[in-house]
Amino acid sequence: MCGIVGYIGGNQAVPVLLEGLKKLEYRGYDSAGVAIGGSRICVRKYKGRLSVLAKHLSSENLDGTMGIGHTRWATHGEPSDMNAHPHINKTGGIAVVHNGIIENYMQIKAFLIEKGCTFVSETDTEVLAHYIDYFYDGDLTEAVRKVLREIRGSYAFAVISDKEPDRIVCVKKENPLIIGAGEGENFIASDIPAVLNQTRNIYLLEENELAVVKKDQIIFYNESGGVVEKEKFEINWDVSAAEKGGYEHFMLKEIHEQPKAVRDTMYARVKREEPGIKLDKITLTNEMLRKISRIYIVACGTAYHAGMVAKQALENMTGIPVEVAIASEFRYVCPTVNRDSLTIVISQSGETLDTLMALKEAKKKGSRVLSIVNVQGSTIARESDDVLYTRAGPEIAVASTKGYTSQLTAIYQLALYLACLKGSLSETEIEEIKSEMLKLPEKIEKILEKQEEIRSFAKQYASIEDVFYLGRGLDYALALEGSLKLKEISYIHSEAYPAGELKHGTIALIVPGTVVIAILTQNALYEKMISNIREVKARGAFVLAIAQEDMGEVESVADHVIFIPRVDARLAPVVGIVPMQLLAYYMAAERGCDVDKPRNLAKSVTVE
Ligand code: F6R
Repeated sequence: MCGIVGYIGGNQAVPVLLEGLKKLEYRGYDSAGVAIGGSRICVRKYKGRLSVLAKHLSSENLDGTMGIGHTRWATHGEPSDMNAHPHINKTGGIAVVHNGIIENYMQIKAFLIEKGCTFVSETDTEVLAHYIDYFYDGDLTEAVRKVLREIRGSYAFAVISDKEPDRIVCVKKENPLIIGAGEGENFIASDIPAVLNQTRNIYLLEENELAVVKKDQIIFYNESGGVVEKEKFEINWDVSAAEKGGYEHFMLKEIHEQPKAVRDTMYARVKREEPGIKLDKITLTNEMLRKISRIYIVACGTAYHAGMVAKQALENMTGIPVEVAIASEFRYVCPTVNRDSLTIVISQSGETLDTLMALKEAKKKGSRVLSIVNVQGSTIARESDDVLYTRAGPEIAVASTKGYTSQLTAIYQLALYLACLKGSLSETEIEEIKSEMLKLPEKIEKILEKQEEIRSFAKQYASIEDVFYLGRGLDYALALEGSLKLKEISYIHSEAYPAGELKHGTIALIVPGTVVIAILTQNALYEKMISNIREVKARGAFVLAIAQEDMGEVESVADHVIFIPRVDARLAPVVGIVPMQLLAYYMAAERGCDVDKPRNLAKSVTVE
């Protein structure tokens, strides 16, 4: 989704801003622009890829050592040069870049039009530039504060003024914004990779904080205007973790990073030589757990699919009833959340606004919140009572892969941890599951060795337009994730169904040649799945099965089988998803799709 960068220092701003924006490309966008500050502000912005902006900028010399830049993902108004950011006031002396939505912009716009402002774009952002101008009385920070009192919504934005060219003023509310601290120069950005080539020292803006960023000084203010002292934190991951490292796409690299992501997520928590599970930073006590009558899980997209697996793991291992809800639906479908609930929030980015709003709703109703998050210091992590970090490293491709498998790994840890607290599993059972978990990375490695087999299958079937994914129990949760991976990056229509449900209507769509992907990782459901495969075969479907190694008989029913190593059925999703990720990847690559940045999608979804 939209990306913000800013620079103020001694170097030329254009290359720094372009480099930062490049690192934010993965978030998804449809136009890009920069405003270079000084005693006169120059704005350049264009629809299309960053390369379009870079090409225009290369033909002129925009001199200036401070500026702001933006990649826009359209919400209010189509992708166009005019709607691209930065937006300016009528004199062009104030420029703004913004991420999020100003919900009451229509009223403000009407007010400003009455005061004589003319609007040139359809965006909500443009009101910010005019409104700051309306309040401006020689102090940019004060004008921004006045605007903050009037606007509603969720946003991060950065402003520059030609009257105060020594500063960038920026604000964060429910949208990410970080500040990178350098020597005689400072940076702002929506995400850490954008500044990592420049500095490893980062400040995180908290909710409703405002920062005045100058080249030698950064001052942070809280909502009531008081100065806030902040700790820098140092990024310890490598820049190369956010680069492709020889792979054609980030997605393929991240699929291959899964053994490491799973291993790292278990590190120091799941140990063969120590009993139980160690989750150091979790403050949930046995006493608190005893009061919890129900667990709610909230998440979106892939993280929601991980939540479906979590429901079964938690119910089986702890006996506590679990509801799982799509975050944007949470407030409508889970009205019973209360003080006796534990809400588990799952999010790779830690910035998904739907998920954050569900978290706030749960807190408002008195629930304790534990989040499973990948990005350290993200808003969801900071708003939660407890955080269990996955350690997947930066996930850049829009389609989540290592994010998902590391979420599953964290979920199993949490389920075991709660089972230990509650005494709902015996020590032997706990040690058995742990020992199976520790084998997961090498099982994923085994599947990665089948890359060529999957690639040649994808090559053969890349032109299909419909696919059905079928599974039962945990395999249905896997089917949903496999189907989402395929559709989001290859644009092939696909649907996931509980295998037994197909006959209640959807089987009407199965005709000779329809491709069906049947998932069989659950030994207990094997026979029923075989019957469901026979049903679609009888209608002429082509069946690709994904099955555990010991399910040899499936070969006599399906047209092609990809075998996964034998794995404890409870943990099978971590292994079973990998061939489906590779299949989606190769289908999309074969069709010439922009795998890492699929159309209409954004990595971090910061609008509701
Ligand atoms: C799909 C995908 C999305 C995200 C969803 C939630 O591949 O990546 O469905 O899973 O937008 O994102 P996070 O986990 O960052 O909250």
